[in-house]
Amino acid sequence: MSYSDLFELNPNLVHLNHAGVAPWPRATVKAVTQFAYENASWSTRRYDTWLHEEQELRELGRWLVDAESKDEIAFLKNTSEGISSVAFGLDWQAGDNIVLAQEEFPSNRIPWEAVAERYSAEIRWVDVNATETPEHALLEQVDSRTRVLTTSSVHYASGLKMNLPLLGQALHDTPTLFCVDAIQSLGAHSLSVRESKIDFLAADSHKWMLGPEGIALFWVRPELYERLNLSQYGWHMVARAGQYDEATWEVAPDARRFECGSLNTLGIYALRASLDLLHQVGMIDVEERIADRIQQLDQSLRALDCRILTPSEPDRRAGILTFSPSRQESGKVYEQLMERGILCAARGGGIRFSPHFYTPANALQFALEALQEILDSGP
Ligand SMILES: Cc1ncc(COP(=O)(O)O)c(C=O)c1O
Repeated sequence: MSYSDLFELNPNLVHLNHAGVAPWPRATVKAVTQFAYENASWSTRRYDTWLHEEQELRELGRWLVDAESKDEIAFLKNTSEGISSVAFGLDWQAGDNIVLAQEEFPSNRIPWEAVAERYSAEIRWVDVNATETPEHALLEQVDSRTRVLTTSSVHYASGLKMNLPLLGQALHDTPTLFCVDAIQSLGAHSLSVRESKIDFLAADSHKWMLGPEGIALFWVRPELYERLNLSQYGWHMVARAGQYDEATWEVAPDARRFECGSLNTLGIYALRASLDLLHQVGMIDVEERIADRIQQLDQSLRALDCRILTPSEPDRRAGILTFSPSRQESGKVYEQLMERGILCAARGGGIRFSPHFYTPANALQFALEALQEILDSGP
């Protein structure tokens, strides 16, 4: 059996958009379907099983980000919610500053713009595409008033992979906190919050993790829990959740403090199945298989006279390859690819291909032949 058999994509579709929204594996479809039937017939009679799934998923989340304990993993709605919880959880003084790249996706830009406006903080924008050393360009902007340096682990448009350990080491033991939007990494390549000395990490599951939209992993360095003011409260985030009659309460000592109320159980079932699959394959294999596919696309696209917009060094790449045709307008070529069933995205002034570990060779071949025909047919 090949890995592509783990999916049931329509044969008329080539999915090269895992940096957008990924398809669910068969195992995930099965888990969701079973949960739906079980819910219909047994309702909460099997609530213990729901709680068990939740704990299993926390452990898989721990594995994926390399946290110390599963209790450090919180489930939020999406990346934006995680980053907003960080931005609005910190104590701000007028004149503080935030360092970030101007190429960030809005989920890692708008919360900081909102907080900066509310507390008269300054945003220091860095053009990471304009430099050979993006980490240094970011670090050069850091001074004693920098509260947070925030970055995507992989930039959504260019595909630039940031060197997180370098950033984390440089910021460690300084007053500047390190926040990472990891949505373009988790499930595509290994990442360690400990090795990279990350303080905050958020990522929704619908891309490389092969999960559904609306369930995100959120991790905060436990030593920072008391420094992050909470703005969402409810029954679930207290130490003795479920003791509804108790008049007093305390905030949960672990990451459950970030989960105000009932969790997205359907999403938990789905994501658990998707992460189980990635765990079985192993992140080293996943990473290598993605790198092979990116390398193959790179060579073929260059042969088609396309300009590669993603940096070429292997350690600057993850699962994204963005390119532009040399003689045709990217936007028009993108539309024609989509019409032919090649799911990709128009990003960063080019066309973004993002295959996953299971993408079969014949799918890449099909996409490249379609691209060749489109380019040969002229502008
Ligand atoms: C870098 C990055 N962050 C975040 C998101 C999505 O944010 P959210 O999980 O809040 O929907 C995307 C989606 O394209 C992204 O590319």
